[in-house]
Amino acid sequence: MLVENLEDIAAYIVDDGKGILAADESNPTCSKRFESIGVVSTEEKRRDYREMLFRSDGVPDNIGGVILFDETIRQRAADGTLLREVIAEQGALFGIKVDQGVRPIDGCPGETVTVGLDGLDERLQEYASMGAKFTKWRAVIKIGSAIPSEKCIELNMKALASYAALAQANGMVPIVEPEVLMEGEHTIDSCHEVTERALNALFQCLEQDGVNLKGSLLKPNMITAGAGCSVQASVDDVAERTLICLKAIVPSAVPGICFLSGGQSDLQATAHLDAMNKIGGFPWKISFSYGRALQSSALSAWGGSPDRVRSAQDAFTHRASMNRLAALGKWNKELEAG
Ligand code: 13P
Repeated sequence: MLVENLEDIAAYIVDDGKGILAADESNPTCSKRFESIGVVSTEEKRRDYREMLFRSDGVPDNIGGVILFDETIRQRAADGTLLREVIAEQGALFGIKVDQGVRPIDGCPGETVTVGLDGLDERLQEYASMGAKFTKWRAVIKIGSAIPSEKCIELNMKALASYAALAQANGMVPIVEPEVLMEGEHTIDSCHEVTERALNALFQCLEQDGVNLKGSLLKPNMITAGAGCSVQASVDDVAERTLICLKAIVPSAVPGICFLSGGQSDLQATAHLDAMNKIGGFPWKISFSYGRALQSSALSAWGGSPDRVRSAQDAFTHRASMNRLAALGKWNKELEAG
């Protein structure tokens, strides 16, 4: 598969309803996910789990790109094939998470900035030499009383833009992820306002750093009420509000918007994506880059047991195909039963 320039890579990932499998959980996050099914997270178990996902029949038709963690891009399947080659054989591109997590910001209690710019150029060169075609960096914005601060937004969006420019200089598409967390009791209005602030700052910084938007993908949150808010919006409200926010800010040069799921249930994440694509009228592809909302049913079905690989793969294939239909605006609830 020869997909070389930035614009072709970005277009390939979101072609025809395809989206991204975010399988780039850090080892501590993976341990948390495994704990929920009573499995101890070892290097071999993480390999077995991810090999199960990557070899699933759901990949070729529904997944254009898989985001990996550093351990996985170097790991081999049980038969000795590199996992990244397993993905390529399935017709998907592989990418890599390159941020190194968050650190507290001095003078901004409760807020963090994502780090990882030190030595990033060298790391990117190595990943490009392994065949990675895209990269991801996640900024985290928390809503609370009097936060986010301007400083938090500015530091995070500047870092995202610096990362994106470096990724492109190394021939890889940057997925820029400014995640406004769902955690909290905030209203949907508050999520809308904060997401608007973050995205406005982000696109200013991307422009200042000369990032080629046509060779980038945006990975935002949807506009929802906080998980702890007593008033939750309907599917149509979330879809409409999210589109209003994005249309006001995201330039049409961006080829694809691939949402994170952020703690939404599998069905919510699919229903919201479908509702946006049914509304239509936007210049970008709108697709998914889900972690939990693509994996949770497969993770439970697997339960750490080699005997359950097949049923876990079936669960993943089902979720992936539902999300592809949603990215085409062709999903409905009845399809879930089938
Ligand atoms: P979720 O879909 O579970 O939010 O994960 C997506 C992701 O990659 C977060 O960085």
